Amino acid sequence: MGKTIIKNYSRFSAKAGTKTIKPCHRLKGEVVLPGDKSISHRAIILNSLAKGEARIDNFAPGQDCLATVKCLRALGVKIGKKGSQDSPTLLVSGAGEEGLKEASNVLDAQDSGTTMRLLGGLLASQPFLSVITGDASLRNRPMGRLIEPLRLMGAEIWGRGRDAFAPLVIKGKELRGMDFTLPVPSAQIKSAILLAGLFARGDTVLHQPIPSRDHTERMLKRMGASLESQGNSISLQPLSSPLISCSLRIPGDISSAAYFLVAGAVHPNARIVIRGCGINPTRTGIIDILLAMGARLKIDNERWEAGEPLADIVVESSELKGVEVGGDIIPRLIDEIPVLAIAGCVARGKTVIRNAGELRVKESDRIATVVSEFSRLGAIIEPLPDGMVIYGGRALSGTEVDSHLDHRLAMSLAVAGLVAQGETTIKHAQVARVSYPAFWQTLQQVAH
Ligand code: S3P
Repeated sequence: MGKTIIKNYSRFSAKAGTKTIKPCHRLKGEVVLPGDKSISHRAIILNSLAKGEARIDNFAPGQDCLATVKCLRALGVKIGKKGSQDSPTLLVSGAGEEGLKEASNVLDAQDSGTTMRLLGGLLASQPFLSVITGDASLRNRPMGRLIEPLRLMGAEIWGRGRDAFAPLVIKGKELRGMDFTLPVPSAQIKSAILLAGLFARGDTVLHQPIPSRDHTERMLKRMGASLESQGNSISLQPLSSPLISCSLRIPGDISSAAYFLVAGAVHPNARIVIRGCGINPTRTGIIDILLAMGARLKIDNERWEAGEPLADIVVESSELKGVEVGGDIIPRLIDEIPVLAIAGCVARGKTVIRNAGELRVKESDRIATVVSEFSRLGAIIEPLPDGMVIYGGRALSGTEVDSHLDHRLAMSLAVAGLVAQGETTIKHAQVARVSYPAFWQTLQQVAH
């Protein structure tokens, strides 16, 4: 195999770029990750509400988190940005007692479900009108799951398509706390309700049949909110005084690390060291499954930053075997399933993924898009209503594939291209910048 070549045919639209990947002889080197996207959204939203100044280092550089920053600025929050493009530092002056201000225009969450849903919950509790929209993909993602529970708290919130989709119109007002069982294991909906609950009358109690990422709960506690987690239930008291601002450094994003974890495990000549990766147990399903598949993966130098655990991870070429993935682990690896599917293609035997129907309502219908694009590369892969079956051990061969404007699919296809025979050309590859703008450059650095 020769040197991996990542050609970039387009200098124009973010979503129009095409990348071509050739397999490489060796994958070796260190990966420095972008800041975690989920933690970054929470850090900037909560510090915008808090009293005082905060400095957020290693803020996630992707478009999703920058969309949240723009929305918060439009709501009157002063946010300065410095440092490098791949690891920016934000300086936030929290609104504190003064509170957020009505935006003079429609807020744009772009492609970011987390921006729309978290801000949707927050704005339902603020004393002014907000309208929030997003790009074509986000305007087709379900918002009824946000509107329905907020209405139980007394919110006045409406959406297009009989309250199913964005744009959302929110006439903010004082809400009431509630006791609610989350029907979907969604951290976005959980966080939206908690944000609304901060400003409500009375306590908010949430029950999670299956736990999801807990970054909001961790950060709220650190910033002085009265929040208790017991088993799968969370109890939050409304704020009696503003949150206390909290400077922090954002840990590396395990969802971005996943591309290199899988690449290292499936490539026959690989050793990759990933530095400063968040290993919050609500996010580490990808590590658990790769280990169950037989991956040679080691976790080193465990430490804490910002109330979150992180570590360095070393991954080496591995002989993988197929596994069954389903049940409570799904929310712990939902965003990593497209790249996990590559491990399934390369592994010996069958990999079955179930209970992952949520994949159908992500940036693309990830069951349909993974099956269609991986099939083009020669994978034997069948869709299930809530997952997929992958018959592993077949060589992949490069061809033209499409990201469907889904950042996670674009990067997963790049990992497939590293082990496929011949050239893999990925259309709309620049969409990776939604979560990981430096992905192509980092891939080029480790591919020899
Ligand atoms: C996220 C929660 C998950 C995940 C998304 C980020 C978050 O979505 O897929 O990429 O930061 O809360 P759901 O809450 O819809 O499961």
